Amino acid sequence: MAILVTGGTGFIGSHTVVELINAGYETVILDNLSNSNPKSLERVEEITGKKPVFYKADIRDEEALREIFKKESIDSVIHFAGLKAVGESVEKPWMYYENNISGTLTLIKVMNEFNVKKMVFSSSATVYGAPAFVPITEECPVGKIENPYGRTKGMLEQILTDIAAADPEWTVILLRYFNPIGAHPSGKMGENPNGIPNNLMPYITQVAIGKREELGVFGNDYDTHDGTGVRDYIHVVDLGIGHVKAIARINDFKGVKIYNLGTGTGYSVLDIVKNFEKANNIKIPYSIKARRPGDIAECYASSQKAFDELGWKAERGIEEMCRDAWNWQKNNPNGYDD
Ligand code: NAD
Ligand code: UD1
Repeated sequence: MAILVTGGTGFIGSHTVVELINAGYETVILDNLSNSNPKSLERVEEITGKKPVFYKADIRDEEALREIFKKESIDSVIHFAGLKAVGESVEKPWMYYENNISGTLTLIKVMNEFNVKKMVFSSSATVYGAPAFVPITEECPVGKIENPYGRTKGMLEQILTDIAAADPEWTVILLRYFNPIGAHPSGKMGENPNGIPNNLMPYITQVAIGKREELGVFGNDYDTHDGTGVRDYIHVVDLGIGHVKAIARINDFKGVKIYNLGTGTGYSVLDIVKNFEKANNIKIPYSIKARRPGDIAECYASSQKAFDELGWKAERGIEEMCRDAWNWQKNNPNGYDD
């Protein structure tokens, strides 16, 4: 029996596939390659020694999904496929609702047809909005979500919860990721953003390699220890392992469980700059800019529940995250296009 990994050639999906294979699971990858490169499959093979089964398919394509479910013996689904650029989602909300919501509804429809009723879903700390308290536990109320991308996550959490309530055979694990960064320590897999990176770490690595002149720090007047925004950065390999731990429990219960996947430690933008400089011995020039609209001051997790119930804890610290992110960028200045 195999795990269907939608979005499995993407950043988090590809790292998770490696960890699943390492843990002895069989995987089937589905991706439409809209935001990923099939070379990641070769890299998975180089790292694990196993050629992953791959289908170029879209989660909105009902027939294509049926073909995969007919051919492969799928036991459960880890559902990463989705669009994730916050700014783009504000400009093209329809595209986000169509891809992320319609796509997931189509996937659920076909899963129901084939009686596959187990899903691990990629959610986000973005559902907490400006969090009611930190560290954020799963009891923290879902907040006012700031953008259409984030709203697709909030809506899909609700849709999956309703489906599991209506059909007691369903098991859903909602994983709320904090800020995934870093790369595989081999330097063979990492984040491959299109155009100008929106997120902090890929921007820093592009400054480090000389593609961008300097980092703009979005605001230094937040109520944090140095005025810059604080986030819970988590190594993508730890995140991948979190999925392995979740899948290991998927047969143990019915209904919905929610877990935060973070480290529990918050770092400011300037903390990240300093740690990156120290870990890699590279200076990162920066200047202070205006706050980015929609940003919050502080967001970090309590991952106690994931530890208590899944036996999972992030093991990789900030130095490793900075080192591995740079190792990937340095070895692949143009990502998978090199
Ligand atoms: P990614 O863009 O690297 O991976 C997503 C993959 O899904 C891509 O390979 C893309 O080609 C594929 N995809 C998109 N739409 C599809 C469709 N209709 N059919 C088939 N494949 C499709 O992003 P990622 O960073 O690996 O994120 C994976 C998941 O985790 C996403 O759902 C994302 O929203 C969520 N998430 C990411 C972060 C983050 O910071 N990276 C944080 C929280 C949640
Ligand atoms: C962003 C998304 C969020 C998504 C998350 C993980 C927004 C508003 N939110 O969150 O929905 O789930 O990524 O992918 O885009 N920063 C700079 N300069 C930069 C880039 C970032 O100072 O060039 C700062 C930000 O202001 C923030 C921190 O770095 O304080 C982290 O930013 P980022 O990596 O974009 O993540 P989030 O803002 O947490």
